[in-house]
Amino acid sequence: MPASQPPLPSAAARPPHTVQLHINGQPHELQVAPWVTLLDLLRDRLQLTGTKKGCDQGQCGACTVLVDGERVLSCLTLAVMRDGCQVQTVEGLAGGEALHPLQQAFMRRDAFQCGYCTPGQLCSAVGLINEGQAASLDEVRELMSGNLCRCGAYVQIAQAVAEVALGEGPHSSERAQRAVVTGTVPA
Ligand code: FES
Ligand code: FES
Repeated sequence: MPASQPPLPSAAARPPHTVQLHINGQPHELQVAPWVTLLDLLRDRLQLTGTKKGCDQGQCGACTVLVDGERVLSCLTLAVMRDGCQVQTVEGLAGGEALHPLQQAFMRRDAFQCGYCTPGQLCSAVGLINEGQAASLDEVRELMSGNLCRCGAYVQIAQAVAEVALGEGPHSSERAQRAVVTGTVPA
């Protein structure tokens, strides 16, 4: 007969982890259960509800945020996996009253209807620019294809992202493009 094993603690009895995150430039130290997603942490614990929950299973892109400058699906990311990281959400894109160039381009192009997908589209677009892979409107479309828009504003969204990413709009200066990459807005 094998020696009997002590029972595992129930999930509810397991101690939370301490997680340190810089979110939109602010340091946070949080006690987090190991199964809590970054999305739920942002929305439910920190009231950063700009990041949206669409499918909650990695298919729509509504929950996209930036982690250390890279776009990630926060519904598929456990908060404990990102201990020590820099997180940027849609709330952190603008510089005070000055909207981010992508936000300005979305407004100029009417790149939304209901707006539910827009925070994810914006964060994904910042990530796309940071990646530096898009060199044409078609490539912008392809690289933004993980972000669904149920209102079907794809034409305007792609145009707005391309305007900033490809430097074809009023923010085409080198300084403005650098501002997009670093998340700061030119004066
Ligand atoms: S809510 Fe995360 S991909 Fe849909
Ligand atoms: S603007 Fe409504 S889902 Fe995209």
